[in-house]
Amino acid sequence: MAGSTGKLNIQKNVIFTSRCNIFFMKIAVKQSTIEEILRVNSKIPEFDKSETQSEFEERYKKKKHLLIIAYVNGKPAGYLIGYDNEQTPNGAKSQTFYCWMTGVIPKFRNRGVLKKMMDFQDKWAKNNNYRKIRIKTRNTRREMLLYLVKYGFLIINAESIDKVKENRILLEKEI
Ligand SMILES: CC(C)(COP(=O)(O)OP(=O)(O)OC[C@H]1O[C@@H](n2cnc3c(N)ncnc32)[C@H](O)[C@@H]1OP(=O)(O)O)[C@@H](O)C(=O)NCCC(=O)NCCS
Repeated sequence: MAGSTGKLNIQKNVIFTSRCNIFFMKIAVKQSTIEEILRVNSKIPEFDKSETQSEFEERYKKKKHLLIIAYVNGKPAGYLIGYDNEQTPNGAKSQTFYCWMTGVIPKFRNRGVLKKMMDFQDKWAKNNNYRKIRIKTRNTRREMLLYLVKYGFLIINAESIDKVKENRILLEKEI
């Protein structure tokens, strides 16, 4: 079992070029700045680029938050922004951390970059006394949905939008 998982990971982290050169991929995840995140965001075709830096900051600046970048062989490849979730109605802390935005530049996809960022977030959230990770996605985000289902998130709510494809799906996982 462990052997076959190891083999798959190795294949995912190896890049074969047309000249049969082989490169090993190293993924590193670090906390970063909104400026660097916006540079990565500009290379993710699915995302709206009209949102300004201050609109991004507005979402998280008054809350405990996490800004991370994943690097593939030193090059920025993906980002994730998360923040403390709203308090529960009785004012108690919800102990839920909300993963607001995440994306990976197309040429770095399918190599475990998202997985590394989500693992980093889990560890960071646990160390900061959160018990759950919450995330909202849409029917159109097929790869994200596959990740969320495979890695233990449960659907807790759904919101209908005019276009079914845009319906919002709220998921949560205990960490
Ligand atoms: C969703 C997204 C972040 C995935 O990033 P990624 O680095 O390619 O994902 P990973 O390689 O880490 O894959 C993690 C898991 O996601 C699932 N997955 C990701 N891409 C997949 C694909 N093309 N086909 C099937 N499963 C896929 C798999 O379960 C995979 O785990 P596994 O390899 O153990 O099976 C990326 O596709 C993206 O940026 N999409 C556009 C923006 C977006 O949808 N963001 C999410 C908004 S809520």
